[in-house]
Amino acid sequence: MPKRYKDIVGDAGSNVVAQLQEHQERLAARLHRISHTVAVMSGKGGVGKTVVTVNLAAVLAREGYAVGVLDADINGPSVAKMMGVRGASFAMGERGVSPARGLLGIKVMSMDLLLPGDAPVMWEASTKQDAFVWRGMAEVNALREFLADTDWGELDFLLIDLPPGTDRFPNLVQLLPPSGALIVTIPSEVSHLVVKRSIAVAKELKAPLIGLVENMAGYVCPTCGSVGALFEGKGAEGMAAELDIPYLGRIPFDPRIATSSDEGRPFFLDCRESPAGRAFACLGEEVRRFVKSKPPAKERVP
Ligand SMILES: Nc1ncnc2c1ncn2[C@@H]1O[C@H](COP(=O)(O)OP(=O)(O)OP(=O)(O)O)[C@@H](O)[C@H]1O
Ligand SMILES: [Mg+2]
Repeated sequence: MPKRYKDIVGDAGSNVVAQLQEHQERLAARLHRISHTVAVMSGKGGVGKTVVTVNLAAVLAREGYAVGVLDADINGPSVAKMMGVRGASFAMGERGVSPARGLLGIKVMSMDLLLPGDAPVMWEASTKQDAFVWRGMAEVNALREFLADTDWGELDFLLIDLPPGTDRFPNLVQLLPPSGALIVTIPSEVSHLVVKRSIAVAKELKAPLIGLVENMAGYVCPTCGSVGALFEGKGAEGMAAELDIPYLGRIPFDPRIATSSDEGRPFFLDCRESPAGRAFACLGEEVRRFVKSKPPAKERVP
């Protein structure tokens, strides 16, 4: 019998307004100890948002920053797997739920840690239409609870890995306007079409955009190390210029990224000098530079 979402996170019915207010207050208190929040988004699925998130976490943690990763994908969480903490037990203390600890002490919170085995989250509603509306609301509430209930401690960076869908970023902004957002695309027109929509939404919200990252841009030959084309489509540099957002460079397709993701060890840790490793390092540099001028997260809670 699949577990229903309400079985996991409460009765979702009584005294909703007071509950929400309480969560929002707790969220504000948590954010007092977090310097910067960075959302990784795209709109498009499968373009490497999670890969970018976990490798950026590794880059920053290796530089000595205290880093946390929130997996905002309630239905298809994959951060715990890519960080090698699936199945980790975590304690419920006085100050909330302790996140799992990955390599370099990176803290991880994901629905995957709460669900037993491979159980899916089911969204329950009386009609299909209700289910659609309710799902968005329920996801926002789940995220609020995740953020508010997790004892993140002192963090320099909290990275938030968003699921696909152009509505996901606006939902996050309601809760917590991030210090910056990274947008991930691949060099295909199909991806560009969706990503452009996400950028338009983010701009409408006047969200601080760190820039556009182009993943799977070229293929690294495992024998000679040269980079060849993987997709025929136009690169994203032109799109970034057209939309007037910074272009943060390309991460080539490297089969070792997929392998290390499956093994739960961020690729960057073992392959820092590869073209993709260097691209992740540059991304870390861009993120650090961007947040320097931003107010700390605690001043950003609505
Ligand atoms: N540059 C790359 N080289 C090789 N494999 C990659 C690269 N980027 C991502 N992958 C692989 O592609 C798959 C999809 O990546 P990932 O899960 O990060 O995408 P996503 O955008 O987070 O997907 P979703 O929309 O489902 O959340 C994974 O198996 C990952 O290991
Ligand atoms: Mg993902």
